Amino acid sequence: MANDQEKEAAARASLQFIQDGMVVGLGTGSTAAYFIKLLGEKVKNGLRVRGIPTSVRSREMAESLGIPLTTFEECQKIDVTVDGADEFDPELRLIKGGGGALLREKIVASATRQEVIVADASKQVKRLGKFPLPVEVIKFAEPLVAKRIRALGADVRQRTGADGKPYISDENNHILDCRFGEIEDPDGLARQLSDMPGVVEHGLFIGMASVVVMAKGGEVVEVRR
Ligand code: 5RP
Repeated sequence: MANDQEKEAAARASLQFIQDGMVVGLGTGSTAAYFIKLLGEKVKNGLRVRGIPTSVRSREMAESLGIPLTTFEECQKIDVTVDGADEFDPELRLIKGGGGALLREKIVASATRQEVIVADASKQVKRLGKFPLPVEVIKFAEPLVAKRIRALGADVRQRTGADGKPYISDENNHILDCRFGEIEDPDGLARQLSDMPGVVEHGLFIGMASVVVMAKGGEVVEVRR
């Protein structure tokens, strides 16, 4: 089964977590986009939800599909968020941010009662780290932060867009893609990165995912801790 079919199957299965009247976090990335599209169809058929998007991209998509939106000004509790991931391990620790939205994604996840991760089978790993860890940084501090992360053993690259210019996040920051190889202690690394002045947020999501809905071949499984 091709990745895209798995992504759509996982997104479709995640709809079971959505109920009428809920506030729903809308993830970012190609798998989350399938979910937003399917949610849009449900809304057209009468489902009443309010969405909180994790990126400008997802907000625009939700608006184009007629999904009503809300903000943290109106509402600080999210019932369910459906988002993608770049990797997840057996403890449901995640690497996120491949799509550049890790900061808003983590803020939304932190306000969410049930964080549902939708994934194709390629995202399941024994140990995190094959995927370069995205770290969002304040531009002013970027060279300093890059040097400090290199000192932790990572190959660090500034993310660039298709035009070769630095990638700019929705919050106007840069992103460093940090290749650690297998990360032995994700919890410890998460603390080290959070303690680094100039790091706005990193893509290690620890203790946030409630369940991963993963499509593998023709079947969809729920992976829990
Ligand atoms: C965006 C993300 C995405 O959820 C992650 O990159 C997975 O994307 P995709 O579903 O396209 O594989 O974290 O910041």
